[in-house]
Amino acid sequence: MGEELIGVKNSALSLILDCDNLKELEELKLQFLGRSGKLTLLLKELPKLPLEKRGEIGRLANEVKKTIEETISQAQEKLSNQNSQNKIDIDTTIPGIKPDIGHLHPMTQVLYEVVDIFKRIGFQVADGPEIETDYYNFEALNIPKDHPSRDTQQTLYVDTRNSRIAAGETLLRTQTSNMQGRIMEKIKPPFRIIVPGKVFRYEQVDVSHGFEFQQFEGFAVDENIKMTDLFGVIEYFFKKFFGEKTKVRFVCHNFPFVEPGAEAYISCNVCKGKGCTFCKNSGWVEILGAGMIHPNVLRNVNIDPNKYHGFAFGVGLSRLATLRYQMDDLRLLTNPDMRILEQF
Ligand code: DAH
Repeated sequence: MGEELIGVKNSALSLILDCDNLKELEELKLQFLGRSGKLTLLLKELPKLPLEKRGEIGRLANEVKKTIEETISQAQEKLSNQNSQNKIDIDTTIPGIKPDIGHLHPMTQVLYEVVDIFKRIGFQVADGPEIETDYYNFEALNIPKDHPSRDTQQTLYVDTRNSRIAAGETLLRTQTSNMQGRIMEKIKPPFRIIVPGKVFRYEQVDVSHGFEFQQFEGFAVDENIKMTDLFGVIEYFFKKFFGEKTKVRFVCHNFPFVEPGAEAYISCNVCKGKGCTFCKNSGWVEILGAGMIHPNVLRNVNIDPNKYHGFAFGVGLSRLATLRYQMDDLRLLTNPDMRILEQF
């Protein structure tokens, strides 16, 4: 009987180790350990053995049973692990997931383009504070406290009640022209500078007005600067930005910090001058203020107005962006909705 037990064990182990699927393994289990399995039947014979042999054969029979059981459960574990590994097999034919790639905001794209165009004709780029003093935003620009032109610059003043700063002296800059005084008092002519940046006004927000928008200021000072230099630079810029066919028109206008002063209009790039909602059917779009820097502004920064002359201009950068992309609402430029931003 001992030999039979060993024989059953050997055949069971070799079948189990050869088995490569769980269903067959289950059948083998029945075949050896089931109610009428080979081992079970042998065990039923045990009581028939002579008493002195029963102990020894009984132990052997238990060992054989344990070995077969353990081998089956190890094989089960191995096969089920293989099955779950098969499930996560990589299918290299499935197309991958494309990661989203961002891009520059339309406002930034326009800003980079402007800077690039002016750099080509020798302009440097400067930056400055958005919280400004009354002096640089107004007084240095020949706009004293009681000047009526202050009314047009709906100014947001900073609340300084619990500080040592005098009331009405600190504000959010209303124009990037604030940088004229700050820069010109530090460097000596000749220079050509542009200053892009945010400006703030107490405006009712609608399709064409915002309480916060972007401008850029440009100015150049040298010994022989004339108004025609200003015209040339402005025309050069708009032709480069909107295309060579763009026409530029200047009309007289008063700004306290320039004399003479002008406003420039460009032929509407949306309707090509025929008339549309962008240009209010006039074919022309007002785009900047400009002029020859007022002698008082030069004196304020200790530049001799008899020796040096300069021109200055201020352009609505936000306006350039809405015209470039034909946006009919200025608020689209500050809307973070991806459905809008993805279009540019
Ligand atoms: N700072 C003016 C504004 O915001 C624009 C402007 C007009 C700038 C005339 C200039 C200029 O430099 O000469 O309305």
